[in-house]
Amino acid sequence: MERRDWLKISALAIPLLALPKTYIGNWINKSIKQINAKDFGEDFLWGAACASYQVEGAWNVDGKGPSVWDTFTHKKGEIHNNDNGDFATDFYNRYAEDIALVKKLNLKVFRFSISWTRIFPDGIGKENEKGIKYYHNVIDECLKQGIEPWITLYHWDLPQKLQDRGGWANRDIIDWFSKYVDFCTKEYGSKVKNWMVMNEPAAFVGLGYMLGYHAPGIKNPYKFLQATHHTCLAMAEGGRIIRNNVDKANVGTTFSCSHIDPYRTGSKDLKAVKRLDALLNRLYIEPSLGLGYPTQELPALKRINRYILEGDLERLEFKFDFIGLQNYFRVVGKKSVFPPYIWAKQIPANKRDVPVNEMNFEVYPEGIYKILKQFSKYDIDNIIITENGVCYKDVLEENSVHDSERIQFFKDYLANVLKAKNEGVPVKGYFIWSLTDNFEWSEGYQPRFGLVHVDFNTQKRTVKDSGYWFRDFLSEN
Ligand code: NOJ
Repeated sequence: MERRDWLKISALAIPLLALPKTYIGNWINKSIKQINAKDFGEDFLWGAACASYQVEGAWNVDGKGPSVWDTFTHKKGEIHNNDNGDFATDFYNRYAEDIALVKKLNLKVFRFSISWTRIFPDGIGKENEKGIKYYHNVIDECLKQGIEPWITLYHWDLPQKLQDRGGWANRDIIDWFSKYVDFCTKEYGSKVKNWMVMNEPAAFVGLGYMLGYHAPGIKNPYKFLQATHHTCLAMAEGGRIIRNNVDKANVGTTFSCSHIDPYRTGSKDLKAVKRLDALLNRLYIEPSLGLGYPTQELPALKRINRYILEGDLERLEFKFDFIGLQNYFRVVGKKSVFPPYIWAKQIPANKRDVPVNEMNFEVYPEGIYKILKQFSKYDIDNIIITENGVCYKDVLEENSVHDSERIQFFKDYLANVLKAKNEGVPVKGYFIWSLTDNFEWSEGYQPRFGLVHVDFNTQKRTVKDSGYWFRDFLSEN
């Protein structure tokens, strides 16, 4: 090659090198060949997910008792716009219509959760016939429409009466939760085989007992550690109860997880990354795998030992049939004296010049590949992506929502899931968060994650372009 040609090539390469790494990553990602549902294999599960408090509404109807989220959202100033889940998407009355949408989009699985206080209004004691019947109706409707129900037993709506007694920070909760799991699995276990004990313990314990952003709004490191230990014990106990009660059960639980990078290269922030990884990715799964709590990388966790009683370490272990992973963003971490305990902080995505969604979560498709690789190092036979999705500013115009950014998001994330699968990661399914727009916790109704748009005034559903994209993508299967 002539010198002149080299110069031309270098001139082209220089602007490319000047681009932030993530842009290059996204560009490479987009050039991944067109994905095809068939490439995931015939047995791969495709589903959509939701959760009781985020969709049901009917917060005090038919005998339901109040949950911590009813209490928290009814306090002024906790939630964006003072929104609450009193009506949500009215799934309580519209479940048949929504299950028909699951079917219409060619999805085979519907993941929803049971609201504990519909079954036991006070958390324990007397049960509520109408609430019990309601979930029979939802399950029967799924089965009638040929959709497989996947049930989460706990998606954050703890009975308020139990919170009044300390909630997850009170060790008695292991017993309270066990009774609830026992009841539900005996009641519905002949119809439902796929169960998830908990949804994202790191989120409900961390945000609810340490940072106070979520119900019950507590900010107390000791309560956080107590709640962590009791949650882990209850999760394993819940797994054992399901296995015992449900013939041919497929028992799982779900964890939030994020790939974590250091803010600065070199070794400066590597320790901070390890500490964040212990807190965000490892704390809740490792005890169930018999690895104990990751106290070595996060010494502040050692204080949890004071809550560990004899026999607990064995009780923490349970071999789940599948592990649900839920991935939304990448974390970038930096050494810091604030906040204490972990001596590390996260650098928000909007301070890093990277693509973000409506909630300022970084859109980083390679993250799902990297985190799948990370979790595949554990002794886990089956992984399911039990949640992945994105919120953008959707505009409803002439009965359509042209959410091309969301379609691109799914293409890019799915390409990375497939890449991991092709490299031997045992990932067996992918559930979209979410079927419909819904109540997004402290952010209220503003972020819209659905494949289906919901007008929260009229409750009218409109399938977004991304929903149709999924329908067509899956029709090849
Ligand atoms: C995970 C939670 O399980 C779900 O409830 C929430 O809406 C999504 N993350 C999006 O933030």
